Amino acid sequence: MIRKLCREDVDCVSDIHLAEFRNSFFCLLGKEFLRELYDGIIRLDTAQAYVAEEDGVIVGFVVGAAEPDRFFRKLLRSKIPTFLVILAKKAFSNPKVILYGLQTLLYPYKANVGADAELLSVAVSRGRRHRGVGKALVEKLCDALKKKKARTIKVTVDEDNLPANSLYGKLGFTLAKTATLYSKKMNVYVRSLA
Ligand SMILES: CC(C)(COP(=O)(O)OP(=O)(O)OC[C@H]1O[C@@H](n2cnc3c(N)ncnc32)[C@H](O)[C@@H]1OP(=O)(O)O)[C@@H](O)C(=O)NCCC(=O)NCCS
Repeated sequence: MIRKLCREDVDCVSDIHLAEFRNSFFCLLGKEFLRELYDGIIRLDTAQAYVAEEDGVIVGFVVGAAEPDRFFRKLLRSKIPTFLVILAKKAFSNPKVILYGLQTLLYPYKANVGADAELLSVAVSRGRRHRGVGKALVEKLCDALKKKKARTIKVTVDEDNLPANSLYGKLGFTLAKTATLYSKKMNVYVRSLA
């Protein structure tokens, strides 16, 4: 079953994020950051977020937003003091997070392809993959954003992430540009929602 992500799911979704995006910058910032991030996201009117639930267990989630630039600005405005405190705490043990934090601020410009919606993250727990859950979550998000009048959606993914690159290809996303972020090459894909 796919249903809307609600505030009670934030803890579980943060755990799935930590487990499935292991070496990412956001995981370096830890669970406290992820909880604040998803809590901030679901409060915004342009956000769309869903979980996949099987026998009462959340096995995956997808998060996206219409009007990505406005979305990022509003998210930062609502959470900037909290994010800065977490960043400062983490910077003591890993100064690299400051550089990554600055790169994240540049992300909307680097990955800009003029799309009017964005898929921000999708993940399925390891033991529950290869059964169509990822595909169903992305389709659900695309349908929801289409209903909000979005005409195109983009997603940025590490070029080495074979499952995700393949998933987006299968779902009709096409490569629009490449960009370097966190010292990694990223593919920016776009799909029409028309
Ligand atoms: C990407 C991810 C969400 C796919 O979830 P999933 O539930 O396993 O995906 P599905 O079963 O719906 O598979 C859909 C398509 O994805 C591709 N795919 C999924 N796993 C794959 C793998 N290990 N290798 C290659 N292609 C793969 C295939 O094209 C597949 O289509 P097919 O079943 O017709 O071959 C999952 O691997 C994941 O959570 N990865 C970690 C988080 C992540 O990297 N997210 C994306 C970045 S935002």
